[in-house]
Amino acid sequence: MTGPAPAVEAVDVTRSYALEGVTVEALRGVSLRVDQGEYAAVVGPSGSGKSTLMHLLGCLDRPTSGVLRIGGRDVAELGDTELARLRNETIGFVFQAFQLLSRTSALENVGLPLVYRGVGRAERRERARAALEAVGLGHRTGHRPAQMSGGEQQRVAIARALVGEPQLLLADEPTGNLDTRNGAEVMAILERLNAERGVAVVLVTHDLEVAARARRQVRVRDGLVESDSAAAGA
Ligand SMILES: Nc1ncnc2c1ncn2[C@@H]1O[C@H](COP(=O)(O)OP(=O)(O)OP(=O)(O)O)[C@@H](O)[C@H]1O
Ligand SMILES: [Mg+2]
Repeated sequence: MTGPAPAVEAVDVTRSYALEGVTVEALRGVSLRVDQGEYAAVVGPSGSGKSTLMHLLGCLDRPTSGVLRIGGRDVAELGDTELARLRNETIGFVFQAFQLLSRTSALENVGLPLVYRGVGRAERRERARAALEAVGLGHRTGHRPAQMSGGEQQRVAIARALVGEPQLLLADEPTGNLDTRNGAEVMAILERLNAERGVAVVLVTHDLEVAARARRQVRVRDGLVESDSAAAGA
């Protein structure tokens, strides 16, 4: 193989959920390659499998079948600890519902991924502060989530995702809970990370304007990729 490995690559992945004797096939054979530095939007109806796909791409979950490679490494060959470490070092994940620790300051929330990496307290605080400054929250480091607006909480979640300097940032409906102005601010942050630091960004959105701003659009339907604007040359 020549050139850098894709940031993440799924080859014919499926994901089934077994629930009370019934099997739900959330993904039915999806192939998707995201190169370093790409910026892609994933769209599709509710229940089509977008979050399931994001969880696989983010190594929060493993496929039922098919191959998933992160930075060229097949996740099937990694144990849970190794996979967690690879995820911690290469991927930032922004959840729709923020998933911040409620009794913990913005600074400590953002520094948390570095705890798992064994980074010392002083360096953790310094890097968390820099990440908060990068999302315009240098003045809110001591605030807990309940003391911040929705837009600010989403930016804390983004700061937490980027504090470890990931090569890939995955965001599931990052503007879903925000008003127009806060949504635009969050989009500007993601676009800047992509343009200035070369971070590959994949985001899920229901907002067609947000999707249209991405260089690539992937449409998911019924657990399959229905269309991919990058597929023409692939
Ligand atoms: N943990 C689970 N157990 C059982 N079924 C699940 C589970 N998670 C998701 N599903 C089912 O898998 C399908 C895909 O769900 P998924 O969350 O990926 O959809 P989505 O495209 O993200 O939808 P939305 O736009 O509403 O967030 C749905 O039919 C859902 O009910
Ligand atoms: Mg979803």
